[in-house]
Amino acid sequence: MITNIGTILLQKMEGKEVALRGWVHRQRVSGNMVFTVIRDPSGIMQVAVKKDKVGEKDWKDANDAYVESSLTVTGVVKKDDRAPGGYEIQATGFTLISRGEPFPIAKDLSEEFLMDVRHLWLRSQKMTAIMKARHFLDNYLREYLDEKEGFYEIAPPIITKSGCEGGSTLFEMDYFGEKAYLTQSSQMYAEVFVFALGKVYVLAPSFRAEKSRTVRHLAEYWHLEPEMAFYDQKMNMELQENMVHYAVDKMVREHPELLEACGRDVNDLKKVTLPFDRMDYAKAVDKVNELGGKMEHGQDFGADEEAILTKTRVKPLFIHNFPSDIKAFYMKDDPAKPGTVLNADLLAPAGHGEIIGGSERIWHYDELVTKMKAQKLDIKDYEWYLDLRRYGSVPHSGFGLGIERFVKWVLNLDHIRDTIPFPRTINRCYP
Ligand code: 4AD
Repeated sequence: MITNIGTILLQKMEGKEVALRGWVHRQRVSGNMVFTVIRDPSGIMQVAVKKDKVGEKDWKDANDAYVESSLTVTGVVKKDDRAPGGYEIQATGFTLISRGEPFPIAKDLSEEFLMDVRHLWLRSQKMTAIMKARHFLDNYLREYLDEKEGFYEIAPPIITKSGCEGGSTLFEMDYFGEKAYLTQSSQMYAEVFVFALGKVYVLAPSFRAEKSRTVRHLAEYWHLEPEMAFYDQKMNMELQENMVHYAVDKMVREHPELLEACGRDVNDLKKVTLPFDRMDYAKAVDKVNELGGKMEHGQDFGADEEAILTKTRVKPLFIHNFPSDIKAFYMKDDPAKPGTVLNADLLAPAGHGEIIGGSERIWHYDELVTKMKAQKLDIKDYEWYLDLRRYGSVPHSGFGLGIERFVKWVLNLDHIRDTIPFPRTINRCYP
């Protein structure tokens, strides 16, 4: 029966005869011995192949193997403190499944080259740890919404006729002779469902034709977009902090080994406690200037300003009540603070910056049309969206969390590109 490396380590299977399937991670030949570190999806383990302990064909296979050749190994588990993980397999059999060709990732580890061979680099220990961590973080976010809050997940279209976040970053496509776009956000479709299902979310790709080359912009990213009937902005922010806290806390408790494998200091994440900090836009602008940045009231925060605001923080920070005229058409004005909207961006600490944008939505027809006209939107593209305000409208709120930005922060990565298998940016769409 085939076992895996993780099980051997977990069950401390010393003295047991095992069979493993995997790939060569690295290889060292020394006289009558070949030391092959093999990997499978659960970890790495050293296999010691001694010439007189295996058949002739197996000895040849062990000598011929390349890095990333695939193989089957049988042998006995021995404790060995010098081996990675503290155990070694003393081989009784070693069979190549596919020897393949010499693996191209060897000396050149430049970022550009690793992006060219991304489909192979995804086998690396670093990328494996990140992809596993992303899987768990995705699951915890979903789990919070599904099990703790009773949300329904819905499936929106990816091809749409209108934008939601302004025209400048729309990817245009030819839809059977008509102009259409890849969705920038599924928010408007999520809003449809609050009138039927109450609390819903979408987890799907959003597309932004971002011309900027930054460490936090992708042209295609995964977007978690909850939308809730009868939620005001205060409830909306509380839901966000509870959800983010749940996922971070569960990751720290259940998978500290993955956080550590990604180089993340787990103790820093333990400081992410509830409630998160809150600051209004006007105060945040003053704070940026006080801390040595330079910005005017009425301007939006860029990466530099967000870094200034969050550099020394340990918890995420909500910035709320932005000026109405720099925000999207669907955000409701705050009657208590004229000229501002009932919105908030959630900034991750230690310079990572914005991970969530959310707001209370305008739910009255006239108010929405007035704002759309002010922002010069073509009303006829949005007739269906206006119908939601024509027929039984109710107050509602929602937000969008960029999965890759969230993962970048939780794992404390320098660049967003490693949070997603195949990053799409202004200069790369291959492989
Ligand atoms: O602030 P944004 O543009 O808001 C919306 O799209 C709303 N319609 C969401 C909603 O209320 N349902 O984007 C939301 C989040 C940002 O906070 C950020 O995390 C992520 O989406 N994001 C990006 N992530 C990676 N690359 C990009 N180019 C991104 N643009 C936005």
